[in-house]
Amino acid sequence: MKVQYEVVETDVQGHSSAKRFYQVDPEYNSEDYRSSRLRSPKQSLVVIPDRLVSRTGPVFGNNMVSRDERDLTLGHGGDPLGERINVSGRLLDSAGRPIANQLVEIWQANASGRYIHALDQHPAPLDPNFTGAGRTVTGLDGSYSFVTIKPGAYPWRNHQNAWRPAHIHFSVFGNRFVERLVTQMYFPGDPLMDKDPIFQSIRDERARLRLISKFDWDTTEPEWALGYRFDIVLGGHLGTPVEEE
Ligand SMILES: [Fe+2]
Repeated sequence: MKVQYEVVETDVQGHSSAKRFYQVDPEYNSEDYRSSRLRSPKQSLVVIPDRLVSRTGPVFGNNMVSRDERDLTLGHGGDPLGERINVSGRLLDSAGRPIANQLVEIWQANASGRYIHALDQHPAPLDPNFTGAGRTVTGLDGSYSFVTIKPGAYPWRNHQNAWRPAHIHFSVFGNRFVERLVTQMYFPGDPLMDKDPIFQSIRDERARLRLISKFDWDTTEPEWALGYRFDIVLGGHLGTPVEEE
């Protein structure tokens, strides 16, 4: 078991009344997620000492991220195929406070469920107008937003008739390389989530639900794009499950 959070419930006087434990992040080795068996650590993890170089080493500063990089539909000869969507949310700490000036990166398959990657050769078309990677920096209120295309489901050969639900990979960079966190955002109502070993590797149902974005009228634009909201909470009992520490 990788991470356990202790939840202390308090009554109105502030006295602890109950304690329970539950798991948020997935285990390194998840039985039904086949490739995790090979790549999960077989020995105890090594703690990387927090040396000065990790604080002063290079990170991606604001001035290196252009405003256009948050729009994955730009930068090609034309518009990509698929359903245009706005994906936005806030990056928050465990107490709900905004985390500003953080690099947020996303990568995803195109509308047909195909990645531009040598290992992805399944028979779905590439889109010459869609690369599938973007990045932005959170604002003072922890907010971020992307314009992209709703990704398609794709087969992945983990087991018989295995299909990944539509998802967008997220990375939150932190202030040094060792702080990077990675997770995946899903879409509401996707029937493939019930059978997906990666999604199901998070045992706690409440934690799984926090990986599902919410359809959002406020960021849905007429004649243009549907809106989805996805807040990322770092740690605590409302934390967003992450894949790596
Ligand atoms: Fe993926």
